[in-house]
Amino acid sequence: MSLVHPLHETSVYQARRERVAQWMLAHGGGIAVVPTGGLRMRNADTSYPFRFDSHFYYLTGFTEPDAWLAIIAREGQPTQSWLLCQPKNPESETWDGKRWGPDAAKEAFGFDGALSVDDIDTWMAQQLVGHKQVFAPLHRSSVQDLPAYLQRWINAARTPVRVAKPVPTHWIDLTPTVSHHRLVKDNRELDVMRESARIAALGHCAAMRAVAPGMAERGLEAELLGVFLREGAQAAAYQTIVASGANACILHHAAGASQIGENDLVLIDAGCELHGYASDITRTFPASGRFTPEQAALYDIVLAAQDAAVANTAPGLSFNAGHEAAVNVLTQGLIDEGIIQASLEEATEKGLYRPFYMHRTGHWLGLDVHDAGPYRETEEDADEPDWRRLEPGMVLTIEPGLYITPESGAPEKFWNIGIRIEDDAVVTETGCELITRGVPVARQEIEALVQSGKLG
Ligand code: GLY
Ligand code: MN
Ligand code: MN
Repeated sequence: MSLVHPLHETSVYQARRERVAQWMLAHGGGIAVVPTGGLRMRNADTSYPFRFDSHFYYLTGFTEPDAWLAIIAREGQPTQSWLLCQPKNPESETWDGKRWGPDAAKEAFGFDGALSVDDIDTWMAQQLVGHKQVFAPLHRSSVQDLPAYLQRWINAARTPVRVAKPVPTHWIDLTPTVSHHRLVKDNRELDVMRESARIAALGHCAAMRAVAPGMAERGLEAELLGVFLREGAQAAAYQTIVASGANACILHHAAGASQIGENDLVLIDAGCELHGYASDITRTFPASGRFTPEQAALYDIVLAAQDAAVANTAPGLSFNAGHEAAVNVLTQGLIDEGIIQASLEEATEKGLYRPFYMHRTGHWLGLDVHDAGPYRETEEDADEPDWRRLEPGMVLTIEPGLYITPESGAPEKFWNIGIRIEDDAVVTETGCELITRGVPVARQEIEALVQSGKLG
């Protein structure tokens, strides 16, 4: 039986489902279905590790594959939540582990009803009758053919033509609503995220101490994963990026067989997943324990850009304020180093920083590393709605970088330097709390940490 979150509180998940149910009632009521997906094959009879769907988990806390949540919201009647999950099966459980089964899951997870997922087609066809609307997460769902399921069930519900009651004619996307609910984290979620961040920071420290010229990038990945798993995380939150030398200019370079060179910078972008919650940290450090003058100059620009973005991460400020502040500092730094030849005004207006900084300065963080939640206020009639204002409890990354390729036209002494510095920030009442500073960012502290691994 997959373990429930150690901080699992059934009432928290019930309250989340009720919030969705009330939103459904406010939009005409109906029935909602949220799937979690099943095992996917990797090769032959071997599957990828299963990871639950984030929306489903947010609303249930249930971590087994092949399950669905149904929420029934009908005007004038109590709302109901049902779980359809794998039935008990002693033979399968001998191979793959214990399952909750519907009866135990209903009690433990606080549902109004539960039944075997094997009966879902019949049950859904019956349940849909009498509802005009069906709600489902039509994007960001782990089940990509969700519309095909809905179509099949609606057709089945309509088949007994003698049924006088309505069958849904409208599909409503639940993703924007659940994503919006997920955007502001509660204290329990924030505690888990702080712990996820603490573990990821430890992993980065271990990798900095372990680095040695001649090592393969994957050797450092092993250091990170070892710490993540020993410290209680369930997995890496995303493909670990360990990029040495020129590889650091490839934004999502997966750790590979490249050998780390004596004068290389190593860029590591790695985070763990703890009870579903991601951390996401990037650090860049010299394999030798000493930045070259060019590496140091660019490092300090990126760090100053991050400081500027942090100072612009506070409640009431726009999500984009941090990005704008970072871009200004990066642009001025590129001018100062002779990489851009233009005034700040002209460089900013023409976006001359873009060949060297091609991503945004942050994203929401939570159950998904690029978490759900809108980046814009939802003004339905505005052509371009304003950026969202930050609120306490939102969590985002702050991750400026500079990537100097030979093709960029920069002076040769800067070629193949790639630097990113990424921390995770919780918006507080007055500003933001950086939860990933268990690993240093200051240049001298990074040098000291790398050098400490080379002693003895
Ligand atoms: N690790 C992916 C990112 O930083 O967005
Ligand atoms: Mn990130
Ligand atoms: Mn990252």
